[in-house]
Amino acid sequence: MISIRSLRAAAPILAILICCCAAQAQFGPPSTPKEPHPKATPESVEAGHKLFSGTCANCHGIDGSGANGPNIREVGATLGPEALYGIIHDGVFGSGMPSFASLSDQQIWDVIDYLTSLSHAGGALATGDAQKGKEIYASNGCASCHMIDGQGGDLGPDLSAIGEVRSVAMLKNALIDPGANLPVDTELQERANYPAYLVYRAVMKDGKVVEGMRVDEDSFTIQLRDKDGHIHSIQKFYVEKLEPEPGKSFMPSYKDKLSDAQINDLVSYLSTLGGAR
Ligand code: HEC
Ligand code: HEC
Repeated sequence: MISIRSLRAAAPILAILICCCAAQAQFGPPSTPKEPHPKATPESVEAGHKLFSGTCANCHGIDGSGANGPNIREVGATLGPEALYGIIHDGVFGSGMPSFASLSDQQIWDVIDYLTSLSHAGGALATGDAQKGKEIYASNGCASCHMIDGQGGDLGPDLSAIGEVRSVAMLKNALIDPGANLPVDTELQERANYPAYLVYRAVMKDGKVVEGMRVDEDSFTIQLRDKDGHIHSIQKFYVEKLEPEPGKSFMPSYKDKLSDAQINDLVSYLSTLGGAR
C-alpha cells in the first residue's frame, strides 16, 4: 500500500529525477544523524520537554496537540526517531516548519524522546509472550534477512537493538505494513546518501526490468541489490527509466501469515532486543 507519508518522502527524489538541476540542499535526501538514537532516559525526556516548551510549543501547542502547526502527539510512534531527526533537523521545505539544524544532535534526540513519551503507544508495554515470539521469529524465516547479535542475513536492518529504538506500535506496523515507514540506515555508509531500503525500479532500453535497493552509484553505473541479495551493476547509458517505488519493501507482510496473537508475541520478543521496555 502506498501511504501519503511514503509519497511525501519520495517527493524530493522524484523532484531530482524530474528536474536534475534542482538544488541538492533543498531537495536532497533528509539529513541523517551521525550516531544512532541513544536510549531514552527520564533525563532526556525532561530535557526534551523544556526544549519543546521554549522552541516548538508556540506552533505545536504546549502538549503537542497542535496550534499553528499540526498535532504531533503520535509522531513518535508512527515515524520513529530517525525520520523525526530528518524532519526536525531539515524542517519541511515550503511549509511553516522551520529547520532546527542549529540544535545539537543530543538536543534533537531529547525533543524526540519527549515527543515519543507523549504518544499513545509510545510508552505502551508489549502484551504478548516474548518467549513464544522468539520461536515465531525462528520459524518464519526472519533470520534470512535480519541479523540479531551477528546471526542472520543482511538484506533488512539489523534488529539487535530494535527494542530500544522502536515503539511497540511501530514494530507492529513494520510486520503488518512493511514499506510504510522505511527505516533510515545510518550505519551503512554507502547507502547513507539514499533513503535506505527504498526500492528502485530500473527499466532498461531493451525492456529488461531490475528492481533493487540502491547501494552505490558512480558516474556510469548504479548498483541495485535485488530481493535475493544479488547486486546488479547497471550501465546508466542503457537505462531508459529509473524510479523509486515508495511503499514497496522486500519484506513480506505478515498480516495474513500470522494471527494477531502471534504478531503480539513477536512484537514482545522484538521489544526485548537491546534490553529496553
Ligand atoms: C513556526 C512554527 C513551527 C515551529 C516553531 C515548529 N514547527 Fe513543526 N511544523 C510546523 C508546521 C506548519 C508543520 C506542518 C508541515 C507540513 O506541511 O508538512 C510542522 C510539522 C512538524 C512535524 C511533522 C508532522 C507530521 O505529521 O509529518 C514534526 C515532527 C514537527 N513539526 C516537529 C517540531 C518540533 C520538534 C519543533 C521544535 C523543535 C517544531 N516542530 C517547531 C510548524 C512549526
Ligand atoms: C525477504 C527479506 C525479509 C524477511 C523474510 C523479513 N524481513 Fe523484516 N525487513 C526487511 C527489509 C528489507 C526491511 C526494511 C524495509 C521495511 O521497513 O519495509 C525490513 C524491516 C523490518 C523491521 C523494521 C526495522 C526498523 O528499523 O524499523 C522489522 C521490525 C522487521 N523487518 C522484522 C521482521 C520479522 C520479525 C520478520 C519475520 C517474521 C521479518 N522482518 C522478515 C526484509 C525482510
